[in-house]
Amino acid sequence: MDKICVTGGVALAGRVETSGAKNAALPAMVASLLTDETIELENVPPVRDILTTRRLLSEMGVQAEVREDGSATLNAAEAGGHEAPYELVKTMRASILVLGPLMARFGNARVSLPGGCAIGARPVNLHLMGLQKMGATCEIVHGYIQASSAGLRGAHILFDTVTVTGTENLMMAATMAKGETVLDNAACEPEVSDLAELLRRMGALIEGDGTRTIRIQGVPRLHSCRHRIIPDRIEAGTFAVAAAITHGDVLISNCAPEHMTALLLQLVSVGAEVDLRTGCVRVRGKDPIVSRDITTQPYPGFATDMQAQYMALMTQGDGTSVITETIFENRFMHALEMVRMGADIKIEGRRAIVRGGKPLSGANVLASDLRASASLILAGLVAHGDTVIDRVYHLDRGYHRIEDKLAALGAKIERIR
Ligand code: UD1
Repeated sequence: MDKICVTGGVALAGRVETSGAKNAALPAMVASLLTDETIELENVPPVRDILTTRRLLSEMGVQAEVREDGSATLNAAEAGGHEAPYELVKTMRASILVLGPLMARFGNARVSLPGGCAIGARPVNLHLMGLQKMGATCEIVHGYIQASSAGLRGAHILFDTVTVTGTENLMMAATMAKGETVLDNAACEPEVSDLAELLRRMGALIEGDGTRTIRIQGVPRLHSCRHRIIPDRIEAGTFAVAAAITHGDVLISNCAPEHMTALLLQLVSVGAEVDLRTGCVRVRGKDPIVSRDITTQPYPGFATDMQAQYMALMTQGDGTSVITETIFENRFMHALEMVRMGADIKIEGRRAIVRGGKPLSGANVLASDLRASASLILAGLVAHGDTVIDRVYHLDRGYHRIEDKLAALGAKIERIR
């Protein structure tokens, strides 16, 4: 199994390019199930979750090709299987996204229940509640969701918790339902809007994405289109924190700074200099790094997917900060590894109290999930000596060649195979 070794102490400098957003590309690929015509995508990051999605779709009979240059071609004319098996769902929970499109086009689906994961319970009850409101029958049999319907119909669906993939799943399900569907308290993440944009290009009638209320008028069929995936705001944000924590000077190009407002404002408040330009952002880290609290929130608030990286930054802060995680109940596994590197962090339920200013020392650490892996690399960039991060397959799920990108900025980082 691969490991990553980071030797700390270099201030990062230079320019780094952002890849396409994994979390926007996943639903976009799955949306190909909605039509028998070809969907062409650009800016798809060739990371492991994308390859898993290609495999999942291939097993359903979709002709799916993802190329190293970020282009992807998908055609579901011959899609016959309507099942997402446990072996794939357990490695990638976002596989649940096939449920909506399968129900919309074929009226039946069999999708393994995802089960728990390292960051919490992550139920899918809201996905099922929405489908049921649209007239589907959903049963749990042998660990699988078995859904069927004689034809979905529009419904008013109110989410009691904001759910990103839940919103995406039901938006796709509603594209070809009879009549109007209203999604209330919907997620307004940029990835949801990117999916809405793709669906509109396929002929769907969707309004209100990017707000808490999305309206979808069902149409009889969808068709081919070409669509470019938005830049990955979490990858770009990880580079921004890398610049801040190493007191470096990094220009992050091909990104969408307008999707990163909460993080960039936070970086300014901790003392970093942030220059915005169209499609890029320059971040210069400053000394001291001021300790500031954050609370994770649905978009446009501070993203839970940036919480671990921000915690790495706060270990180098000039005082005490409180990090409150409101989205997932168990998302502090990285804190325990950072403590092994010398950080002073106390966990009290959903709050982490980080006392900054402690020098970190390199250690062998274990990545528990995707963003935790990234945060340990960030901690390693400022630790004395070598940090060896094990289980980097988590990292490969969502970051495209992060070690090469950081090395190009001067970091001493290598993959050990
Ligand atoms: C997506 C992102 C993930 C990000 C998360 C929150 C993708 C592929 N993944 O995950 O990177 O960390 O949003 O921004 O886009 N919930 C329920 N019932 C449900 C569904 C969700 O209670 O049926 C709860 C969850 O347990 C969690 C909260 O809602 O507490 C938000 O989860 P959700 O937005 O659904 O996360 P994902 O869409 O799985």
